[in-house]
Amino acid sequence: MHVFTVKQLLSTSGMNQEVTISGWVRTFRSNRFIALNDGSCLSSIQCVVDYENLDEEVLKKINTGAALKISGVLTASQGRGQAVEIQVNKLEVLGEADPDKYPIQPKKHSLEFLREKAHLRVRTNTFSAVMRISSALAFAIHQYFRNEGFFNMHAPLITGSDAEGAGEMFRVSTLDAKNPPLNEEGEVDFKEDFFGKEAHLTVSGQLEAETYAMGLGKVYTFGPTFRAENSNTSRHLAEFWMIEPEMAFYDLDGNMDLAEDFSQSIIRYVLENCEEDLLFLEKRLLDEEKTKPQNERSEMSLIEKLRFVVDNQFKRVSYTEAVDILRNSKPNKKKKFAFPIDEWGADLQSEHERYLVEKHFKCPVILFDYPANIKAFYMRLNDDEKTVRAMDVLFPGIGEIIGGSQREERLDVLQEKIKAVGIDEEELWWYLDLRRFGTAVHSGFGLGFERMLMFVTGMGNIRDAIPYPRFPQNAEF
Ligand code: 4AD
Ligand code: MG
Repeated sequence: MHVFTVKQLLSTSGMNQEVTISGWVRTFRSNRFIALNDGSCLSSIQCVVDYENLDEEVLKKINTGAALKISGVLTASQGRGQAVEIQVNKLEVLGEADPDKYPIQPKKHSLEFLREKAHLRVRTNTFSAVMRISSALAFAIHQYFRNEGFFNMHAPLITGSDAEGAGEMFRVSTLDAKNPPLNEEGEVDFKEDFFGKEAHLTVSGQLEAETYAMGLGKVYTFGPTFRAENSNTSRHLAEFWMIEPEMAFYDLDGNMDLAEDFSQSIIRYVLENCEEDLLFLEKRLLDEEKTKPQNERSEMSLIEKLRFVVDNQFKRVSYTEAVDILRNSKPNKKKKFAFPIDEWGADLQSEHERYLVEKHFKCPVILFDYPANIKAFYMRLNDDEKTVRAMDVLFPGIGEIIGGSQREERLDVLQEKIKAVGIDEEELWWYLDLRRFGTAVHSGFGLGFERMLMFVTGMGNIRDAIPYPRFPQNAEF
């Protein structure tokens, strides 16, 4: 017999047919109405049992969380709120869930509580909605690049180079902890880590993507990246997924155009394909907003916010212009930022980014031409020799969602920069080769997948935008 999904049954017009369905009990009311959910969509299907003809022992096992297989006749529903229901003929309890022990009961659980139950939280409406949208978003990303003529490539996860030059890398070690090789100072020689070579988990696939762009033209990576930074914020993970397009013959303007079109297209895809889940998450947020004082409530609902980003151009502002704006602003009652921007050249903090996006421009912003000394070594130096062709895309409620740049394509300038930041040129011989053989203008950027998922779902903490978040002291499951 064909096993249907709830999604299929809710959209079928084939009434009065015999169907079989499996799923997990959400609620069981009046010994009669089972709400069965199988994850295929937000809605559960109502299954009506004739309890007088059901074995007492079986009845006791129909608890929230139990897995059931049900066969019955699909009929138009008498009740409000659903079009169809199943009149159950046969019911099999596949797996019980002890109501005294099963933690996901049909009531509102806090996100903090659910984070402790990461293996079960996908059985809630909130997390199943977030994760279905996550899947749609990933699909939209691949589809966008395929339509635009990009090739997908897999960058290595174990690597010898530090793509961001920030030293935030996890070591990968095959050393024998009891008998490690020692260096001349008698300390453990980490340079021998990976069967005799230094290696770590990648912080970005960019450098490898650059090599491929210089042969395939337009490529993108979509893979996990790792940052060994001790950040305990709602925007940082130690393991996150990054999408990194890299394009030969693109300058920074082309890069900004692509970043804007790409972001808008994937959000549009979610708007067009995930309506039920978005409406649920929007309602969830509205309820949350109601608990806040009036003046702190968001002016737009979730879907309005997404539409706004899709329909309006991003504002492009140079770092220098942004600093001028920040210097002349009065961000709050105290009229000061916690980190005042006194000098040109300072890195922007998230309070500055959020002020620009949420208070000043009130739309997504692309900041470009940052001071060279606060950005990575590979970015192209401008003629002023003070700024680089960097760009950060800032989103309301999120801050930086994309970071990218035009790359330094001139061998001598790149060699200088590598030397200045103290990286051994030998380590990047292959990267420098790109500038020796057929060098050309090229650009790219990185989108943090979970930050985009936070934005489209309205989740306030990045730990709720990935199945198993990795952050300091959290690697359970
Ligand atoms: O700005 P980042 O560090 O840029 C790069 O890694 C470049 N190599 C990208 C490129 O040009 N190909 O990171 C890019 C994006 C950020 O804008 C942010 O969305 C996300 O990755 N990101 C993080 N997301 C979650 N947790 C973290 N610790 C993140 N660090 C960066
Ligand atoms: Mg960045």
